Amino acid sequence: MSSPSSGPLKVCILGSGNWGSAIARIVGANAKANNEFVDEVNMWVFEEMIEGKKLTEIINTTHENVKYLKGYKIPENVVAIPDAKDAVKGANIIVFVIPHQFIERICKDIQGCVEKDALAISLIKGVTVKDNGLQLITEVIKSYLNIEVNCLMGANLAPEVAAGYFCETTIGCRDAEAGKMLKTLFQADYFRIVVVEDATTVELCGALKNIVAVGAGIVDGLGLGDNTKAAVIRLGLMEMVAFASEFYKNTETATFLESCGVADLITTCYGGRNRRVSEAFVKTGKSIEELEKEMLNGQKLQGPETAREVNLMLKAKNMTDRFPLFTAIFKICYQDLPAKDLIGCLNNHPVHM
Ligand SMILES: NC(=O)c1ccc[n+]([C@@H]2O[C@H](COP(=O)([O-])OP(=O)(O)OC[C@H]3O[C@@H](n4cnc5c(N)ncnc54)[C@H](O)[C@@H]3O)[C@@H](O)[C@H]2O)c1
Repeated sequence: MSSPSSGPLKVCILGSGNWGSAIARIVGANAKANNEFVDEVNMWVFEEMIEGKKLTEIINTTHENVKYLKGYKIPENVVAIPDAKDAVKGANIIVFVIPHQFIERICKDIQGCVEKDALAISLIKGVTVKDNGLQLITEVIKSYLNIEVNCLMGANLAPEVAAGYFCETTIGCRDAEAGKMLKTLFQADYFRIVVVEDATTVELCGALKNIVAVGAGIVDGLGLGDNTKAAVIRLGLMEMVAFASEFYKNTETATFLESCGVADLITTCYGGRNRRVSEAFVKTGKSIEELEKEMLNGQKLQGPETAREVNLMLKAKNMTDRFPLFTAIFKICYQDLPAKDLIGCLNNHPVHM
């Protein structure tokens, strides 16, 4: 990574959805306020036509992402760019904030255009499947671009961050100097950051909690109470911890107490699109795909897809019995298991035996 002494660092944000646009408000303001960074921040925007106008042009003239974060200004030093290759040119810090479904496509697109010593940070919650195993998003990025990749995850529903409501987040970064610089780039008085070295657990929390959020939505859809939801959250947390320690070396249980862990799990099981769509899935009987289109205006769901990816790995390792909540959620979303059977699946949870 270029050190601050070699000149101000150029920042590029890849993505401009709900979270991408909210974080651009903080990153844009911090880049302008700190000499450590170049004022102008590039933001790659997946081009779309909105009422006959290009979204990039709308953002560059009105400084508002009218599709994904209506009602909030993005600082004028954040420049929307439709070509990702142009956006990453000369960037020292690359912020990845796109739905995980698109990560390989974008990495392939920018391969060869990224500075060799650039530093990346992923705000993406999800995993991908490779050879019957899982690949973390930071690993995917590293495999394509061969640069250092950190992560930022926390209890951060984008509309609330955009509104400036106090919250915390966690940066997973193994290098103390880089961690400090990233904290300067992302912290605000209403967005407080703790940097931890255990980046793998930070990232796993961000991905796995979306599966539990689907469980919480199913509980709401069935009209069950807060006690049931609390049980689903607790069992979900137990499965997250078990999954991390089973498949990843040196993960620390203490990391689950950071914002990326228990706090994100709570917020996502009460607010959040995964919970909301899963509740509607139970109440309407429509498919997840149908509801995603109907309810999310172009935003993407991560929970059901992550449940499917995790299930592939658990099946391959013959371990579905040890993860009854993750497994039941997969079966409800993809194999027509009736939603009401969720609770039955939890009766025999290993923690109760
Ligand atoms: N929204 C939140 O509250 C929140 C909070 C924390 C983390 N996250 C994570 O941040 C990541 C990005 O989420 P978001 O809320 O910014 O996105 P989003 O779901 O709001 O928006 C979808 C984005 O995908 C883009 N897109 C659509 N089709 C595309 C294509 N074919 N190729 C590439 N891009 C395409 C759209 O332009 C848009 O920027 C996700 O991993 C999410 O889990 C979201």
